[in-house]
Amino acid sequence: MDKLRVVQVGCGERGQLHTEAMLAAGVIDLVVLCDLDAGRLQAAGERFGITRLYGDMAAMIRQEQPELVDIITPPTLRVAVVEPALEAGAPAVLIEKPIALKPSEARRLVELGRERLIAVNTQYQWMPHWQRFWALLAERALGEVRLLRASTRCNILEQGPHILDLALKAASLSGLPEPEWVLAAASGLEYFGDIPVPADLSAIVGLGEARLYLNAGPSAPAVPERRIFITSSKSKSAVIPAVCGFL
Ligand SMILES: NC(=O)c1ccc[n+]([C@@H]2O[C@H](COP(=O)([O-])OP(=O)(O)OC[C@H]3O[C@@H](n4cnc5c(N)ncnc54)[C@H](O)[C@@H]3O)[C@@H](O)[C@H]2O)c1
Repeated sequence: MDKLRVVQVGCGERGQLHTEAMLAAGVIDLVVLCDLDAGRLQAAGERFGITRLYGDMAAMIRQEQPELVDIITPPTLRVAVVEPALEAGAPAVLIEKPIALKPSEARRLVELGRERLIAVNTQYQWMPHWQRFWALLAERALGEVRLLRASTRCNILEQGPHILDLALKAASLSGLPEPEWVLAAASGLEYFGDIPVPADLSAIVGLGEARLYLNAGPSAPAVPERRIFITSSKSKSAVIPAVCGFL
């Protein structure tokens, strides 16, 4: 089988997990790495035995002609990196969650994605337990879904994209329409890295006659048997895994 020819932009903490996973997948030819930070680039190259390293993304794409550009830059840099990648000839890009920090940026990415494939890495939905759950929903094993509840004790930027992705996937498989309206309230201040983010968020999303209740932060219900704390270098608070419930 031909392997997918991939180049990677960004060799930070998350980027190195991508490199590891790409190399382990067996179906990907990860040919080169790129980072603006020469020290990080060198360290990642040495760690993974990748010797072809670039500081300039556009030059790399033009030279290497990849089939996929895997972009793992901070959330403040989305359109600023994706647009030049497409201009340099990237046929498809994978970006990390969150898709963007501003609606204007998200809309621009949607526009750019009409011409080329832009995928956002919200990986939970591909995990085996979720795959089993998707099959149950698709065959309507749970009956009609009228209420979805998705919550995380982390802030909206830390785990919000994941729970929203899972909840909307569940809604779609249950035959519910796309979100029609959102009523939301946010309070408090926290940081995701250096990015200010509401400490707590509650939202109701209208999906036809059904409703999605979303909580990110202390307003999320506790899950008594699921208090596994993962410390996050990015967040000032401890991270509790996201939980989704369906009625
Ligand atoms: N899906 C998940 O579960 C998950 C988990 C953790 C992080 N993330 C996401 O991954 C992204 C990256 O996180 P991180 O912690 O690795 O960030 P980071 O800041 O540690 O690393 C980003 C790297 O990108 C490089 N970079 C920036 N602009 C560049 C450019 N134009 N060309 C080349 N390199 C460039 C920087 O020099 C840096 O080394 C974030 O969006 C974060 O939200 C997702």
